[in-house]
Amino acid sequence: MINNFSNIKACVFDAYGTLFDVHSAAAQHSHKLGKLEQSVSEMWRSKQLQYTWLRSLMNAYDEFWTITGDALDYALASHGVEDDELRKNMMNAYLQLSCFEEVPRVLKALKDSGMKTAILSNGSPNMLDPVVANSGVASCIDACISVDEVKIFKPAAIVYQLACDRLGVSANEVSFQSSNCWDAIGAAHFGFQVVWCNRYGQQLDRLPARPQAEVKDLDALPPLVGVA
Ligand code: 2OP
Repeated sequence: MINNFSNIKACVFDAYGTLFDVHSAAAQHSHKLGKLEQSVSEMWRSKQLQYTWLRSLMNAYDEFWTITGDALDYALASHGVEDDELRKNMMNAYLQLSCFEEVPRVLKALKDSGMKTAILSNGSPNMLDPVVANSGVASCIDACISVDEVKIFKPAAIVYQLACDRLGVSANEVSFQSSNCWDAIGAAHFGFQVVWCNRYGQQLDRLPARPQAEVKDLDALPPLVGVA
């Protein structure tokens, strides 16, 4: 499913799940989690996102760092794990997530071509700055934009507008990439040209909009936006 992208002046990326592997946090502590690792990590991510949507609806914003901790507490307690040291270390691992294998070369190819690049994320600045720095891709990112500026989470339209305002481009001049289908659809509904990076072969969410392209990883992006 690929329709041609036109007149792209900026490539904007979701962070968690798209550039950075959220499951690498639990994987850094597989020696402590053992067979619980996958279940804890999946529940941690699921609750983290649920809490963002619910807090937006409740008009009860708090920083993504706090919400990530709340979600981890839920996941660990649900698996009968009580270990403050492990909890601290898993949270710190969120600041050192692995980036997916193709990310550095794709970002470099985009930057070398003169394309504007940015991250647009639920992450709070105190999370995004270290994870970007630790992954070594900071030099390829022109702007790191957090929902913290508007105190509401994706897929609120006001969040996607942040990228247009910061980069000085209109919505249809942006190619937005996310592995989170609901985020990709929210961005398409806002007016971006959208690539859904379907890393895990998931179903398309039944929501009111569709990404223009579905790819397995970000290596497919440069030719889509006219970058050799
Ligand atoms: C992000 O905003 C959706 O958590 C994802 O980076």
